[in-house]
Amino acid sequence: MTEKLQMYRCEVCGNFVQVLLAGAGELVCCGQPMKLITPNTVEDAALEKHIPVFIKDENGKSIIQVGSTPHPMEDKHYIMFIETISGDGNRVKVEYLYPEMKPEIELEENKTGREKALAFCNIHGLWEGQSD
Ligand SMILES: [Fe+2]
Repeated sequence: MTEKLQMYRCEVCGNFVQVLLAGAGELVCCGQPMKLITPNTVEDAALEKHIPVFIKDENGKSIIQVGSTPHPMEDKHYIMFIETISGDGNRVKVEYLYPEMKPEIELEENKTGREKALAFCNIHGLWEGQSD
C-alpha cells in the first residue's frame, strides 16, 4: 500500500519514483521491492546543510535555498532536485538542478498556506523543510 507523494527508490538500478495516486500494490523494480525514501529533518551540525529554507534573496524575491548555508553544487556532490508541495498537498512542483547552479528555486507567490519543500542530494539523500 502506497501513499500519495511518497518517494521510492530501487536499490539495484537507482530508479526513483513518486506516487501520484496511491494504490494497494507494492512497488517492485529489478525483481525486489522498492525502498521508501523518508526525508531527513535533522542536520548534523558538523556536515554541510541540507534542509530547505524559505528566505528572501538579495533582491527581496522569495526563494527556497537548500541549506541555511548554501549546499555545494559540484559535479560529485550536488542537489539534484527541489520539490515544493502546497499545504493542502494538492499542488506539486519539481525543479531539477545541475552542478554549478545555485542550490535554490524561486517560490511562487500564489502558494496555498504552509508549504513543504523537499531537496535531494546525490550523496546525502532526501531532506525536508517547511515554510513559516
Ligand atoms: Fe549533500
